[in-house]
Amino acid sequence: MTHILLLILAVIAARAFWPGIGRRTLPPARSDFDARHDVDTDGEIPISRLDMPADIAARAERYMPTDERVLEVAVAFAGIDPARFSFVDLGCGKGRALILAAQLRFRRLIGVEIVPALADIARANLARLGVAAEVQTADAARFVFPPGPVVLFLFNPFKAATLGAVIEALRAAPGPELVVIYYAPDHGKLLDASGFLTRLGSPRGWGRRAGVAVWRGTGTVASGAVSPGAITGEV
Ligand SMILES: C[S@@+](CC[C@H](N)C(=O)[O-])C[C@H]1O[C@@H](n2cnc3c(N)ncnc32)[C@H](O)[C@@H]1O
Repeated sequence: MTHILLLILAVIAARAFWPGIGRRTLPPARSDFDARHDVDTDGEIPISRLDMPADIAARAERYMPTDERVLEVAVAFAGIDPARFSFVDLGCGKGRALILAAQLRFRRLIGVEIVPALADIARANLARLGVAAEVQTADAARFVFPPGPVVLFLFNPFKAATLGAVIEALRAAPGPELVVIYYAPDHGKLLDASGFLTRLGSPRGWGRRAGVAVWRGTGTVASGAVSPGAITGEV
């Protein structure tokens, strides 16, 4: 009897020190979002496991899908009609934000992702749902914004160096209306300092550091300056 008691105590103590001991290792549960849409957007993938050139990796953040409430809350806060705007997700990963933007009925959907395998998954997810979106496998720092009203969505995709290049590309965007929705805005101060974007603030309950912040600005058409994109209509 004493032996059995000691054995039980030993198992309890071992589990306290090594919580995995004696338990089956289960795969992580599929998110509600992926289960509902039958897509693959789950998972957190560190930079070390993302296939991208070393110089870009040094300025990048890991893969992680967006919180599915963020976009709807931020669009309502910005007070815009998505049907008038192109939606651009720089660092679109597996395309979860593009799927959410399609549900909000944005006029046009563009995603840019540097990791080929993630871009392929995004294309497969979007095709499965019948969503018409353009996914470019490219460096976001080289993106040229399309003419017309644009919502730029960022879920903390990269560090300040790449964000700086994106801000300069946005400064050259024809516009006339530009909105930036930045989730987990680690480098929001760069947008504040841009001189052409004004921080509207954060939706109620989403203002903490890891929350979401929204900016508005005007493109070169509205400000009187003319960019090459405005003349050629290039994307
Ligand atoms: C936090 S995930 C965001 C995923 C997606 N936007 C979403 O909300 O579900 C950031 C993504 O940015 C990508 N990324 C990082 N640097 C990039 C760059 N310079 N150009 C394009 N994509 C980049 C990463 O590979 C990663 O997939």
